[in-house]
Parts: sequence; C-alpha cells; structure tokens
Amino acid sequence: MATAIQCRGMTVAFENAGEKFLAVDAVDVDIPEATLTVIMGPSGSGKTTLMTSLSGLHTPTSGSVRTGDRELYALSPSALADFRLRRFGYIFQDYGLLAALTVRDNITLPMRAAGRAIDPQRVVAVCEDLDIAQYLDHTPEELSGGTQQRVACARALLGEPDILFADEPTGALDSGNARRARSILRRFVDDHAITVLTVTHDPQFVEIADRVLLIRDGRIEHNLDAPTAAEVIELSERSVAP
Ligand SMILES: Nc1ncnc2c1ncn2[C@@H]1O[C@H](COP(=O)(O)OP(=O)(O)O)[C@@H](O)[C@H]1O
Ligand SMILES: [Mg+2]
Repeated sequence: MATAIQCRGMTVAFENAGEKFLAVDAVDVDIPEATLTVIMGPSGSGKTTLMTSLSGLHTPTSGSVRTGDRELYALSPSALADFRLRRFGYIFQDYGLLAALTVRDNITLPMRAAGRAIDPQRVVAVCEDLDIAQYLDHTPEELSGGTQQRVACARALLGEPDILFADEPTGALDSGNARRARSILRRFVDDHAITVLTVTHDPQFVEIADRVLLIRDGRIEHNLDAPTAAEVIELSERSVAP
C-alpha cells in the first residue's frame, strides 16, 4: 500500500518555565494512503502537536515529514501554505468556521484562497450529500454543533484533499451527531480514497479505524492494525498502570 505521509525522527521541543521538554519525541511513522488512522492517548501526551506537525501547521524542531515527493518543511512558507490549501483538509473540535460568513462562503473559502475555480453544482451536491444544503445561506451561529461540524466536513471535502486531518472532530458532539461525523469520515476514505488522520478520545472511532496509534509522552507506544476497542482499552490501561 502506498504511503501518504512518511515521518522520520520527528521531535517537537517546547520550553515551559525555562525547562525544555519534548512534546513529540523521535517519532517514526508511515500513514498508508486511503486509510483511517486514529491517534489516541492521554491528555497532554502530544497528540495535537504530532498532528499539527504532520499536517504542515507546526514546524517540528527536527525530523522529516514527506508526502508525495515533497519534504514538507523544506518548502518555503508560501509554498507550504499553497500546498496545504491544495492537498490537505482540516476539521477541528470547535469546527473552525467564520461567524461572519454564510455556510456557502465558509465552505468555499479555502478554494477561493487557493485561487481555484468553484463549481456551484458541486457545492450543492456535496452539501446535499452531507444534508446541509438547506443551510447554505445561513451563518454558523444559526446552526447546531452537529450541523456546524458537517459544514466543516463539507469545506474539507470540497477542496478534494489527499489527506484530511481532524483533531477531536466528535469532541463537542452528542452521541448521535458523533456517530454521524464518524461515518462521514469513514466515507471520505471509502468513497473518495482520502487519507484520514484523526486525534480522538472517542473509543467508538476504533471500530471504524484501519489503524490506531497509541501515544504516550510524545512517543508512539503502539501502532495497531485494525484493533478491537477492547484491545485498545486494555493496552491504554496497561500503559497507565504503575
Ligand atoms: N505552544 C506550546 N508551548 C508550550 N507547550 C506546549 C505548546 N503546545 C503544547 N504544549 C505542551 O505539549 C504537551 C503536549 O500537548 P498536546 O500536543 O496539546 O497534547 P494532547 O493533544 O495529547 O492533549 C503538553 O504538555 C502541552 O502543555
Ligand atoms: Mg489535543
């Protein structure tokens, strides 16, 4: 299987009160193309830092992140920004929508920023597929959290990304909307061959994941191929035992 992201020796150091510590500690990982990879681990274990560093949002202190034939952090800042806009999509726990813009303007913003042509029929088709077409002229504040997250999914899908990064995409959702968001991300993989990488605390993500990375203290403690939720819970508990 082809590799969407190849990460080698990635370290991210921060300073807290003058003391240096490693939020990501010498991580090597390959993310296979067109799979759903779930990153789990305790709060503060470095999940978000790992993900932002894999996704071009945070330059690591050292190490290599390759996608396609590009070394991500060898690109100039403007080339990296352009690459992200064309190839990557992002979904966040707080949806990341702009309050002043309508749904239509929110979901087309990354494409407009990249100077890409927008097919209005495709906008409607994507929104119909995600059951938000009726909200195209509304602003995010008029919508429920679950609907706002589907708008964020539409924005990501519209850009036809190769790789979609999601940080706790179901973290603020009730169980019904969380299930819906999980199945949307699974469909991005199955129907659109998008590589999806998601940080989550939601054990139900394990059921639909191809791979689960368990993070602890900035390291990948386990890299599991389609584990059961029970296996993941067992390994997580074992790793926190004294
Ligand atoms: N910009 C930053 N400056 C200093 N410390 C940070 C910064 N971002 C994250 N950290 C620290 O790095 C560690 C990992 O954080 P994070 O990646 O957000 O963990 P997680 O997503 O697993 O909860 C935490 O101790 C956090 O406080
Ligand atoms: Mg986090």
